[in-house]
Amino acid sequence: MLATATTTIEPRLLAGQPFAAGAESWDQHRARLGELPRSPGLAGIIPSIERSGLIGRGGAGFPVGRKWRSVAERSRRGAVVVANGAEGEPRSAKDRALMHLRPHLVIDGGVLARAAIGADELVIYVGSEHGEAVRSMSRAIAERGGRDPVAIRLVEAPRGYISGESSAVVHYLNARDARPTSALERPFERGVGSHPTLVQNVESLAHAALIARFGDAWYREAGRGRTRGTALVTVSGPVRFPGVHEIEYGITMADLVAMTGGATTEIGAILIGGYFGGWGSVRDLWGAPLDPVDLGEAGLGFGCGLIGLLEADACGVRATERIVRYMAAESARQCGPCIFGLGAMAAALDRLAIRRPLPDDLENLARWSAQIVGRGACHHPDGAAALLTSGLRVFGDDFDRHQRGHCAHPSPRAGED
Ligand SMILES: Cc1cc2nc3c(=O)[nH]c(=O)nc-3n(C[C@H](O)[C@H](O)[C@H](O)COP(=O)(O)O)c2cc1C
Ligand code: SF4
Repeated sequence: MLATATTTIEPRLLAGQPFAAGAESWDQHRARLGELPRSPGLAGIIPSIERSGLIGRGGAGFPVGRKWRSVAERSRRGAVVVANGAEGEPRSAKDRALMHLRPHLVIDGGVLARAAIGADELVIYVGSEHGEAVRSMSRAIAERGGRDPVAIRLVEAPRGYISGESSAVVHYLNARDARPTSALERPFERGVGSHPTLVQNVESLAHAALIARFGDAWYREAGRGRTRGTALVTVSGPVRFPGVHEIEYGITMADLVAMTGGATTEIGAILIGGYFGGWGSVRDLWGAPLDPVDLGEAGLGFGCGLIGLLEADACGVRATERIVRYMAAESARQCGPCIFGLGAMAAALDRLAIRRPLPDDLENLARWSAQIVGRGACHHPDGAAALLTSGLRVFGDDFDRHQRGHCAHPSPRAGED
């Protein structure tokens, strides 16, 4: 059972043998779940995925069925499926855990998507730094011994935050250059080898593989609120059992912290959705549902499912500065607003963090975070701007104090900053 106070839903993606047993083999996978349905069961798979309400787990939460239909409508002259397991988000571990522990579920999802949209090729794109996931996926492809009706190619993604952005994925597969291309070039129209390309997060594909077996009504049985299903989250910070957990959408933050064994110290703020997400205060989030629709209405996002808990005595300015500094360093350095905008934001935040700001640093940060949105070729600067905006809101008192040269929190311990 998922260990919340009131849920009765069994884990789905993480069902089966315990994590410590490592990767599930091809034989174990089929013994537990049976074969993936083939035609004629496949004929209705796109409508079934649409009815399920499955949304993408790579960050944007786009409906999976609608995306499959768009690519299928364009796939007459060949198409490609890319299972996106780059997971460049530094604190997220859910995709690498899934690829390591349940590699055949990911491959099944890719094989299913390929059949549904009529693609000729399936590429499994795994972050090269995720060694266990790379080895597990590679072993799983070998175990299947070419029995799938499609060629499966494993490609290691170069390390970096933006390597998993969909146009960067396509660019890398076409030209070994993992920098995003223009936002006007959309992979589902013109992607790998100029073919329509479905870039789909590995967790999204794994859910689709279960829907093909158990149906959309089964998928919708999980979920406490408006978004249906379960989701993988990575919990980081002061809880007894940080790491990857599977939750039912719509449980509260209080449920989730209970599920991780409870907080080991008082929590002050929560980073929700990862570096592309935003900060929320414990007061606002503790009883709120972890549901993408509700979070969106509150100006936040479920994103890649990263939930980062910040201790109450930690400084919000320093925590925000660390993330924006990282985002600025990860720019692909090809668009002015991204290079100079994120650079200026990171520099002002650094001055504020060390309490030696210029007189207008705080005012400028508020202005820049609004100006930079939509100005890059990809959404990387938008993510940094949203994170900063949320930091300015949640840690407003901390920012005001730092602008005046003070800080109410203990100095960071050695190595913490
Ligand atoms: C800067 C940036 C980095 C991204 N990194 C990843 C990633 O590592 N993995 C991923 O699945 N999606 C990532 N995405 C989202 C992808 O562009 C794409 O939307 C996603 O892979 C689609 O799959 P989904 O619809 O199943 O979420 C990133 C987006 C941006 C803007
Ligand atoms: S916005 Fe930034 S990360 Fe995106 S393409 Fe331009 S320089 Fe690269």
